[in-house]
Amino acid sequence: MIVLGGSAGAHVGFELSRIVSASYFDVEVREFPDGELYVRIPVDVGGADVVYVNSLAKRPNDLLVESVLTLESLADLGARSVEAVLTYIPYARQDSRFSLGEAVSAGVVAKLLKSLRVERVYTFDLHLHRFRDPKQLFGENFVNLTAVRDLVKYVANHYELGDCVVVGPDEEAEQWARIASEELGGAPYTIMEKKRISAAEVVVKPRDESIVREKNVVVVDDIISTGGTMVETVRVLRSIGVGDIYVAATHAVLAGTAYSRLIQLDLGDIVASDTVLSPLSRVHVAPIIARSLPSALIHSS
Ligand code: R5P
Repeated sequence: MIVLGGSAGAHVGFELSRIVSASYFDVEVREFPDGELYVRIPVDVGGADVVYVNSLAKRPNDLLVESVLTLESLADLGARSVEAVLTYIPYARQDSRFSLGEAVSAGVVAKLLKSLRVERVYTFDLHLHRFRDPKQLFGENFVNLTAVRDLVKYVANHYELGDCVVVGPDEEAEQWARIASEELGGAPYTIMEKKRISAAEVVVKPRDESIVREKNVVVVDDIISTGGTMVETVRVLRSIGVGDIYVAATHAVLAGTAYSRLIQLDLGDIVASDTVLSPLSRVHVAPIIARSLPSALIHSS
């Protein structure tokens, strides 16, 4: 088995290769003067089982093209099997047509990924609001993993949480709040009702104020992008009167000034996974990927 890392996937790919005792190579990626991408696989993949790792955040358009070029080339070059691990898949939040004429980007990206000649596509905590199961959109060979258990374990192992409550900042986060509550031995959880005002601005209202009052709070979410959701959630929780606040989010995309806005909140801690590499990445997802790959592949490496 060979592990290949795309230009934003080397940190996870390399660690994965060590765990599964496979060789690791960076895919060569360069930009032509006109902005087009050049991709080259630096090793003979003929007859090999290949795991490709990339994270499509921050430069979503380039990284999507880079990954598609790489994955299709692996099939062309005769790889025996290809597992595509895209730790962050962009465009998932536009999973509906909110105004007339809009592209339903999640559907278009899903179609593109489904068309690739790969065995499976893996990702983490995919944000799909209107779909109960991402397989509805991305097909049967789609594997949606979660980093939330490990994030919450990290917080619980590093801090004295005492009598704490889990909060999801919107309806969609209930699935992650439930997982976090299980990890915390059945701690109570609640969610906020969120209304988006603009790309960076939201208002949130707690569904149940009394449950969080004077308690330490663990806020769990899938993505921190502009930070608007977290900043507002923390403001509202503090206005109710809570103890220490810890934030755990899978993907720290940290667009624009999000990082400085978050650290100014002076929270107990903010932890994210390394699906998107950032100063908040404390939890490594490579072990989760290693456990999810078909065991026949691991034994062949
Ligand atoms: C959306 O509903 C997601 O679960 C996140 O809450 C959201 O994407 C975070 O975005 P931002 O940090 O820009 O508020």
